[in-house]
Amino acid sequence: MTTIRHLLLILVLYLTPSVLGSSSEVNLDPAELVQKIERLVSDSKKYYFPGNNKEYFVENNDMNSFCESNVDQYEEDLQLCNKKFETPHEYDFIIIGTGTAGGVLANRLSEIDNFTILALEAGDEAPELSAMLGVNIYLHRSPYNWGYYTTRQKNMCLGSKQSKCPYPRGKMMGGSSAINFGMYVRGHREDFDNWEQMGNPGWGFDDVLPYFKKPEHATFTDAALMDSDYHGADGPQKISIPNETPILTQALIDVHKELGKLEVDYNGKNQDGVSKLQFFLDGNIRSSSNHAFINPARARPNFHVSVRSYVTKILIENKRTYGVRYVKDGKEYVAKARKEVLLSAGSINSPQILMLSGIGPKDELDKHGIEIIQDLPVGKYLQDHQFFPGIFYRTNHTFYNSTLLDKVKSWTDNKRALTPSLGQQAISFWNFLGPDDGQPEIEFFFFGPPVNWHDLAEVLGYTDEYVEIFNTLSPYSDINVNIELLHPKSEGRVTLHSRDPRDFPIIDPNYFSDPEGIDLENMYKGVQIALKFNETETFKKLHAKLLVVPYPNCDEKYEKLSKNWWYCALKTLSSTLFHPIATTRMGPDPSTSVVNAQLKVHGIENLRVVDAGIMPDHISGHPNAAVVMIAEKIADEIKAQYSTL
Ligand SMILES: Cc1cc2nc3c(=O)[nH]c(=O)nc-3n(C[C@H](O)[C@H](O)[C@H](O)COP(=O)(O)OP(=O)(O)OC[C@H]3O[C@@H](n4cnc5c(N)ncnc54)[C@H](O)[C@@H]3O)c2cc1C
Ligand SMILES: *[C@@H]1O[C@H](CO)[C@@H](O)[C@H](O)[C@H]1NC(C)=O
Ligand SMILES: *[C@@H]1O[C@H](CO)[C@@H](O)[C@H](O)[C@H]1NC(C)=O
Ligand SMILES: *[C@@H]1O[C@H](CO)[C@@H](O)[C@H](O)[C@H]1NC(C)=O
Ligand SMILES: *[C@@H]1O[C@H](CO)[C@@H](O)[C@H](O)[C@H]1NC(C)=O
Repeated sequence: MTTIRHLLLILVLYLTPSVLGSSSEVNLDPAELVQKIERLVSDSKKYYFPGNNKEYFVENNDMNSFCESNVDQYEEDLQLCNKKFETPHEYDFIIIGTGTAGGVLANRLSEIDNFTILALEAGDEAPELSAMLGVNIYLHRSPYNWGYYTTRQKNMCLGSKQSKCPYPRGKMMGGSSAINFGMYVRGHREDFDNWEQMGNPGWGFDDVLPYFKKPEHATFTDAALMDSDYHGADGPQKISIPNETPILTQALIDVHKELGKLEVDYNGKNQDGVSKLQFFLDGNIRSSSNHAFINPARARPNFHVSVRSYVTKILIENKRTYGVRYVKDGKEYVAKARKEVLLSAGSINSPQILMLSGIGPKDELDKHGIEIIQDLPVGKYLQDHQFFPGIFYRTNHTFYNSTLLDKVKSWTDNKRALTPSLGQQAISFWNFLGPDDGQPEIEFFFFGPPVNWHDLAEVLGYTDEYVEIFNTLSPYSDINVNIELLHPKSEGRVTLHSRDPRDFPIIDPNYFSDPEGIDLENMYKGVQIALKFNETETFKKLHAKLLVVPYPNCDEKYEKLSKNWWYCALKTLSSTLFHPIATTRMGPDPSTSVVNAQLKVHGIENLRVVDAGIMPDHISGHPNAAVVMIAEKIADEIKAQYSTL
């Protein structure tokens, strides 16, 4: 009886109308959209992060219904609550998380009629407005973000409250691909050759290029912008170059040319240059994994999705994985996997789930009294990209000055994709050892009008003092240079707060901690290049002048614009660029890696991790495209393995 009820529930879930094709994803009435955006913005200002995962354990919003008691007694609670266990249901594959990777897996595996697939997603259906890239910062302060923060940082996030950087992760169908900035940046050829050299056969650039191309449908055709040998033309995920702000994009290209850069397709043969940005965009609609992969597969009868379903444990017996346990609306369920469990909960949550299930570093599991199944370095080696948004130029042009309604109209008319805020413009790569040296150290990208600097500063978690400083910037005429550190030497860690799945994990990226100080020095070298723009003809034509904003905590200690002052500024305003990797990294040696080159967890049968966490070392780009590639490759390997049985 309960099984039937559950199956009915799943049926209802996957037939909800919000999941139909792209045109019905968004109501295109501009006036209504304006109202919804205004409501989202005002809700985001009032939003408080929950700080834990208790919501799942509550039935009918009754905070006391699920054996709410001592947080250390979670297992004991479950015994008491045994009546709430639902009869197990069974599938071939269970995918945990429908984010960037999970979405791809769900689509590709459900192409095989014989496979049955259950995808469990902790978040809800993606909200309509996630289709607009330009509202992304307002989703950060909403239930569609897990709402994590870093631990207190010693050398970075010093301009953020309590020196903790907000650490957003998407929590909805599509995961972080539905809340991110949408920039399509694959990385450098040598990034992947490096993965292979680290002992991972099959991951060199020539091996992975077909899996970058397979999912892609590049909609830009201009030969100058597209190196067509490197792009896909008929995959499900559209990649586009959106319409731009007049004058500004071309000026940013020109300023780089003055400094010796060529205009290139940075996702083509030669990354080293300057380019217009390519985005995950289908027309003006965000092409998240939900949009490109899950929605088209949602009606397949062999594919079930359950949202608001929080996985608390992977079930393993004699080192063989046989299912998962999850909580939904205050009830605990068990789902069984005949073939494999595929863990795609992302670089932060996948390590948490593994450790709660008994897979992790022995000392860490011992500390929390978790019975160990496999001793592996889960959560170690955390690498993240950080960026510095603190270099500003003020032009005397008004690039953009229109009402929200005008902006939304240009969006619905397919004229301007990044509306209403955050106009990312142009991208370039900088290698300090010369152009033939391979992987760059630094990437630049630019925010150009219209930018709501105040709201951006709030989302980055800055103190009121720094939010005020961002308030003095103009949304019409100011530009900033964002400096991203591509190959950080600093290493952090994800650990558990406790063995209770109601607790958040602990995230310590440990930024700017490498003993030789290479990370900070490379960022400083980036600053020096960004300052050269001040002397260029292109910027002079725009009457663009370096705008040196106050850094109260640095100004009192150091001479303005001196090296020490910039070091201080970098430590103050740098933020995560939201690219954590390597917490379940791939490699041949179980003492230094968690999964092998097939992404199977060392020593455990029928369990793979497929998400950003498996990347063994950082890439010279942004991870979303590489995560899609990773999932495409593994989906093919899974199909090959089981269709021959
Ligand atoms: C604000 C922001 C901006 C970014 N900008 C860019 C960009 O412009 N370009 C780019 O390439 N990359 C960008 N990134 C990074 C990129 O989006 C991520 O690297 C990528 O989405 C990671 O994919 P994933 O599959 O590993 O995890 P995710 O996409 O995060 O998916 C994990 C999924 O698992 C679910 N989940 C987690 N725990 C559980 C559980 N216990 N039970 C059930 N479900 C669970 C989550 O809700 C989520 O849906 C950005 C990220 C953020 C957050
Ligand atoms: C910018 O300033 C210059 C010099 O003062 C002036 O000649 C020019 O007209 C201004 N441009 C705009 C768009 O205001
Ligand atoms: C923007 O437009 C408004 C209304 O037309 C006008 O009052 C304002 O001065 C403009 N701002 C800039 C910076 O051009
Ligand atoms: C930037 O250039 C302007 C001239 O356009 C000059 O007045 C100013 O001193 C320069 N600033 C720096 C920091 O080099
Ligand atoms: C699917 O099932 C059919 C009939 O049972 C069988 O012929 C076919 O080989 C199976 N395909 C795969 C991919 O397992």
